[in-house]
Amino acid sequence: MNNTEKTMDQIINLCKNRGFIFAGSEIYGGLANTWDYGPLGSRLKNNVKDAWRKRFIQERRNSYEVDADILMNPRVWEASGHVASFADPLLDCRECKMRFRADNLIDDFDPDAHADGMSKEQMFQFIKDHHIPCPNCGKHNFTDIREFNLMFQTFRGVTNDAKSIIYLRPENAQGEYVNYPNVLRSMRAKLPFSIGQIGKAFRNEITPGNFTFRTIEFEQMEFQTFCKPGDDLELYEYFKGFGRQFFMDLGLPGENLRFHDHEKLAHYAKAACDIEFLFPSIGWGEINGTHDRTDFDLGRHQEYSGQKLEYIDPFTAERFVPYIVESTYGLDRTVLALLCQAYDEELVDAEKNDVRVVLRLKPSIAPIKAAVLPLSKKLAEPALAIRDELAKEFMCDYDETGSIGKRYRRQDEVGTPFCVTYDFDSETDGCVTIRERDSMEQVRLPIGEVKAYIAEKVKL
Ligand code: GAP
Repeated sequence: MNNTEKTMDQIINLCKNRGFIFAGSEIYGGLANTWDYGPLGSRLKNNVKDAWRKRFIQERRNSYEVDADILMNPRVWEASGHVASFADPLLDCRECKMRFRADNLIDDFDPDAHADGMSKEQMFQFIKDHHIPCPNCGKHNFTDIREFNLMFQTFRGVTNDAKSIIYLRPENAQGEYVNYPNVLRSMRAKLPFSIGQIGKAFRNEITPGNFTFRTIEFEQMEFQTFCKPGDDLELYEYFKGFGRQFFMDLGLPGENLRFHDHEKLAHYAKAACDIEFLFPSIGWGEINGTHDRTDFDLGRHQEYSGQKLEYIDPFTAERFVPYIVESTYGLDRTVLALLCQAYDEELVDAEKNDVRVVLRLKPSIAPIKAAVLPLSKKLAEPALAIRDELAKEFMCDYDETGSIGKRYRRQDEVGTPFCVTYDFDSETDGCVTIRERDSMEQVRLPIGEVKAYIAEKVKL
């Protein structure tokens, strides 16, 4: 199935019914734009994090991971520019009182209009000139466009005064920047080197979410490379390609990925490019960003903290504030893209109109690697013993209810690459049947060889 033939509703239903993603606070009617990952969703997410860590932290030279606090000194967000300029251009419909992002209204009305290159005034004029209707009530009666800061505020201590305001971080990056001098010193790092982090970020997004594509709480995997000024543009091009390859290796095919160079740049960037994925129902959407942030961030932190953040070149003794090239990945969007890409409906038997739903996740990121299925409940004991042995190596499921065919289908739906069937012959020949998800082919193996056989095929 092509992604354009799938719908987001199919993906959402599978996620809700099969333990991947549930509506946040569901028994209370939910909370808009929040989602909870279930047993399989959280495994999938962790597998993507492991793949990212392996590729970005473990395999790369001069790469260091940090785990900075979500709450930071509020001066960080003044220095970073977020207090002054991290805002969305919003307008309200005077008729139905719904609130919209002006750039989204324009892009949905005319995808070729490129609202990201327009000023607030140009966006207002465009909406007026084209008489763009309210997507909710169809009328055209909007307020002026106002800038709304996206940062969540909270208060420290017991008084709700302005002095005690702190922010939930809207991006991971600043946690990596403020730790630049600590990592430099403690790890005896030399330029170019990188600091990466996986963690939560929070944004007061008002636009309806498209499932987990746009949420108010989400996870980022961010990677900052500190370099000499002048080396930045080469690194910027390099990380565009590196990011694309990472997605392809996770299982997103090249034809469903594209680069989108930014016309209007964020306050910190000299160059910026997104990697977009072709989502069902949503269309092309950003899953990654590469940003040449120059010396903006460290320069500002130097100014606001009063601490010297210069690098002294060990060979030339030259002093300078390093440039930063950022490669940032939305973890939730990556997981959503992988689920969308993997979802497939396959006609198994045309005469019987037998269609199987199969999640063709790469075995290395599939939440469950193997399911052990005894042919009869009478065989539960030896089958459970195999399950327990395999579970020492990778995530396993065990299922003894329903016909074997139905059990295979249940595992197909959640992307389990291997089913291990223990039958009555196993009692005498000491072998089990291993059925592969995509080809549905079966091989018979001695029980003692199963662990190594599967482990080899599911490793990252
Ligand atoms: N440090 C730079 C930065 O935060 P960004 O483009 O604003 O850049 C990086 O965000 C990535 O985080 C995006 O490519 C996207 O995948 C993800 N992201 C941003 N806002 C999000 C939201 N509201 N919900 C889910 N993911 C989001």
